[in-house]
Amino acid sequence: MTTTTTSTPDAQNVGDMIDRLNLKPGHAAVGGLQWGDEGKGKVVDLLTAGFDVVARYNGGANAGHTVVVGDKNSALHLIPSGILYPDKLNVLGNGVVIDPEQVVKEITGLREQGLKLDENFVISDRAHVVLPYHKIQDALQEAAYVMPNALDQTIEGIGTTGRGIGPCYADKALRSTAIRMSDLRDFDQLKHKLHRIVPIKNATLAALAQYANEDFTPIDVEALLAWLKPLAEQLVPHLTDGAAVLHDRIQQGERILFEGANATLLDIDHGTYPYVTSSNCSSLGVHTGTGVAGHHVTNVIGIVKAYQTRVGGGPMPTQLDDEIGERIRQVGREFGTTTGRPRRTGWLDLVALKYTATVSGATGMAIMLLDVLAGLPELKVCTAYEIDGQTVTNFPADIGVLSKVKPVYETLPGFPEDVTECRDYDSLPGAARGYLKFVEDFLGVPIVMVSVGPKRSQSIFC
Ligand code: IMP
Repeated sequence: MTTTTTSTPDAQNVGDMIDRLNLKPGHAAVGGLQWGDEGKGKVVDLLTAGFDVVARYNGGANAGHTVVVGDKNSALHLIPSGILYPDKLNVLGNGVVIDPEQVVKEITGLREQGLKLDENFVISDRAHVVLPYHKIQDALQEAAYVMPNALDQTIEGIGTTGRGIGPCYADKALRSTAIRMSDLRDFDQLKHKLHRIVPIKNATLAALAQYANEDFTPIDVEALLAWLKPLAEQLVPHLTDGAAVLHDRIQQGERILFEGANATLLDIDHGTYPYVTSSNCSSLGVHTGTGVAGHHVTNVIGIVKAYQTRVGGGPMPTQLDDEIGERIRQVGREFGTTTGRPRRTGWLDLVALKYTATVSGATGMAIMLLDVLAGLPELKVCTAYEIDGQTVTNFPADIGVLSKVKPVYETLPGFPEDVTECRDYDSLPGAARGYLKFVEDFLGVPIVMVSVGPKRSQSIFC
């Protein structure tokens, strides 16, 4: 799970804040440019007020954020936080993989808090369904992958969130074992499909379990159908042709905010493969994940944490395993919200960021959690990698190469001052401004916003 945000639709001056972001006319995409948990929820929350529709295009219950309704916190993994605005349409696009139990839980929780979701929440009928056997497969696949063999005694697993994301997308690609949301409309047909799919799953999972020395209880297809039926009844009224709805809204002159889950370095095509998630999390996923073509998206806001973090497996060149890394983890509260896993922390990696900003087509960046760096005597930023004595500035495709690179750092002065009360750029300490300017110049993408705390008001517009 990624971001934590508080969200109330009635916060002050939101319109003014959006104006100060200087967005171009048209639609906008928001996505993380690192390995997730950049603080995207706060930016989405802020921006939502200026848009009519919030559409999520990828991922599943592996992401999420906390919203505050009245004085109650709710964890949302699938439903966008725009749901708190009764007049905004919230769309789960065809690129999202949907855990029916999770989404019904979120719907029920929000309804208990007085929100009506009848009019403003729709799910693409082309989205795929995450079923319980996907989660079992996720865990068994991880266990099987790390089994010692003749050549390797130890290997790092992908470190998935265990939410069944990879196996569900794999079934989407396999086609014959996939279930889409539209299948929930016709239970007789679904029954036939599951009677075909479940024996295949049972055979595959039993073999996987045997190889990984794990237990596996075969899935009972009738029990699965009985579990799914009441969930389907709750979800079917929300199903629609997601792309058609979005195009209607575009025709009507409404503005869409496309929300990406996870982040660009976790993108299946452009991330640190294989230590990635199974969808296109970069802004490139907007188009396949919603059915809205590229030219509509005129703004791409890349969300960047002021330092680097990573959770799960895979190399992270600027990782700090020292007291500075620990300090960043504690001050930044860098622990996964779903799994509680401590996040690895490190210096900002500008080589990786240059790559992700380029791939995503970022038109602006929001720098988050700058306050966490206050008090560090000096700040390092990685501007190149050294590989076998060579200095390179491109981001390597090969994970073996990325695991070996040594970061080349530029050292910048730190700022001792607390910045959480700063409300405009000029009131930031000179060294903090110097840090931001270095990042902006290196990446060649304008910083449009700097966040100095979790509250909406703790935002500086540049
Ligand atoms: P999966 O998406 O559960 O398959 O996990 C694949 C990899 O992506 C693992 O390293 C996860 O820790 C990571 N991951 C997935 N979603 C997020 C996220 O929202 N934030 C940070 N890491 C994530």
